[in-house]
Amino acid sequence: MTLEEKIGQLVQVNATLLGTSSAEITGPLKKFNLSDSMRHNVGSTLNFGGVREMIALQREHLKHNRLGIPLMFMMDVIHGYRTVYPIPLALGASFDREIVAECSAMAAKEASAGGVQVTFAPMVDHVRDARWGRVMESCGEDTYLNCVMGEVQVRAFQGEDISDGEHLASCVKHFAGYGAAEAGKDYNAVDISERVLRQNYLPAYRACLDAGASMVMPSFNALGGIPAIANKWLLRGILRGEWGFDGVVISDYNAIEELVAHGVAADERDAARMAMECGCDVDMMSVGFCAHLEELVRDGVISESAVDEAALRVLELKERLGLFEDPYRAVTPERESEISLCPEHRDIARRAAESSAVLLKNDGVLPFSKDIKKVALVGPFASSRAIKGFWACGGRDEECVSVLEGVRALLPEAEITHAEGCSADILSCDESGIEAAVECARGADAVILCLGEPQDMSGEGSSRTTLCLSAPQRELARRVLDVNKNAAVVLFGGRPLEIKELSDIAPAILEMWFPGNEGGNAAARLLFGDANPSGKVSMSFPRAVGQCPIYYDRTSTGRPKTAPDTEMQQYVAGYVDEGNLPLYSFGHGLSYSSFVYESLTLDRTSIGVDDAVRVTVRVRNDSAIEGREVVQLYLRDLVASVVRPIQQLIGFEKITLGAHETREVTFEIREPMLRFYDFDCDLVSEPGLFEVSTGYADHLILTKRFELVK
Ligand code: NOJ
Repeated sequence: MTLEEKIGQLVQVNATLLGTSSAEITGPLKKFNLSDSMRHNVGSTLNFGGVREMIALQREHLKHNRLGIPLMFMMDVIHGYRTVYPIPLALGASFDREIVAECSAMAAKEASAGGVQVTFAPMVDHVRDARWGRVMESCGEDTYLNCVMGEVQVRAFQGEDISDGEHLASCVKHFAGYGAAEAGKDYNAVDISERVLRQNYLPAYRACLDAGASMVMPSFNALGGIPAIANKWLLRGILRGEWGFDGVVISDYNAIEELVAHGVAADERDAARMAMECGCDVDMMSVGFCAHLEELVRDGVISESAVDEAALRVLELKERLGLFEDPYRAVTPERESEISLCPEHRDIARRAAESSAVLLKNDGVLPFSKDIKKVALVGPFASSRAIKGFWACGGRDEECVSVLEGVRALLPEAEITHAEGCSADILSCDESGIEAAVECARGADAVILCLGEPQDMSGEGSSRTTLCLSAPQRELARRVLDVNKNAAVVLFGGRPLEIKELSDIAPAILEMWFPGNEGGNAAARLLFGDANPSGKVSMSFPRAVGQCPIYYDRTSTGRPKTAPDTEMQQYVAGYVDEGNLPLYSFGHGLSYSSFVYESLTLDRTSIGVDDAVRVTVRVRNDSAIEGREVVQLYLRDLVASVVRPIQQLIGFEKITLGAHETREVTFEIREPMLRFYDFDCDLVSEPGLFEVSTGYADHLILTKRFELVK
């Protein structure tokens, strides 16, 4: 291969730049000014529009590429392709490994049929600040849950063999620490200690790589002053060195060029040099590699062998994908339309939406009886189909089922009235529709009040300084709930919202997140008892935005609050105007069944480094309704050489309990699960006492102790 041919493999551009479409290249894309020969050597592309475009692009490319090296096609297949399932934050809330695996496998199948070969997923950034719009892309605030769900997604996306035409190569992102953006502001600087980085932020990326993820995308942000894509310690030190990752590293969109804006590179050439030196293989959508790499090699700044290494990694991935045997992976427009949004896929999306919905509050109004005659659907989300969420890829709003449509389908005999009341737009102050909505609610046997934040207020570049609902929605809730108490709120959003007042006045709240295509059907089934809620909070709901970042696995302080959380106490770690605890803690979620935790037993109270303690939790369904419960296991290290979290999830199991059924769940704790990063950032365990509990965060029960002896 010539130098230009090798460099081409390291360049990724938008499909529009490859020029099969007649659209004129304008705006920022113009800067590329790709020569014909570079265009014919480009290694991969993103943002193309389905299988027909993919086939046309590949055909054109192979016509001109001297060596017949196929293009590789990548896409953000994050919570579905054409069939959209709940956002990752909701998937986390499902605590349901099986449904997450089903969803990811389904997305891989649909996307493969659409010509996609690589997905930029999973995103496993550790998130603690609901102001950051990208919390919707992660599985929540817990490191362990993120590890489990990240691993499940990677395995399901990739399957046994990524060349089989039904699976995708998975690119884990955004390495590393992106979720700790200061003040919850997207792309902002991150400054965290190495201990916290290793303890909380790195494990999920590592878990995904251990599960076989093929690629890694470094994040946009600076970590400790060095942007990730130019961070040698992160990329060469930890990723390639400590972890031995030898797959493809791809920069985030234009991130190489952004080293200039960061002020760490003098110009684009300098930026390309830095990224290359740090082990970045592919430049996504900046002019860094395509315009400057050749010159950097010719000037002896970058060695040709570094380019060889990177190109080889890209070619190896193409080979693993089977592209040299079949550059099209047998895609056809017929197969794409046959599989897209097919009934089986809609069924998976509905079950996922049911499994991930969280019943935050229920005074007993839910489930509503299906014999109800008159139902009022009120609020801006009642008839809205804009519930697919930000990263919906090929999904379309018009293919989503609204709550109104879901209820109508479930209760064909009922009289259903509907009033929007107001807009969900946070800037709106129009309350002119509220009166009509109140009248609609007044005479109904049941009211379903559908509220939330618009779907474009979370996701990339959508950070917020407040987490509240629009003012008219709050007024609507007050007025409607004042005239009819047989009401339930159905909440939509890409993050935990600030809903303290709503939670005081609403008899019931069902959190649907952004549920995807089948949201309305799932909500209807949950509200009327055809499905039983079983999701748990994956990210703490703050009482007030000023508590952010707020998370359950906070570390001990020297001045813990001793008064009840509702009382104010000075000179302790707390606030003088609000409690410390969230409104709804991590792991909280109600059911129509009633689960009683009967016991937690240990088979021994002392272990050595090679032993295991078996912890058995006994749960009874004290109701006649079958339901699913997430049995959670928490750990606390009582004394250690560094400050440790007051509670830490170390295991969970989602089980089904029939009417009045009792079941036991056994977890095994071994010494590696007790390790943490000590003063020197070495991963160690220390002898001493540990507590294990069940229940959920901030509400631990049945606590027992055991000792690690060395
Ligand atoms: C920027 C986002 O940060 C990243 O998550 C995504 O994969 C790329 N754009 C490609 O769309």
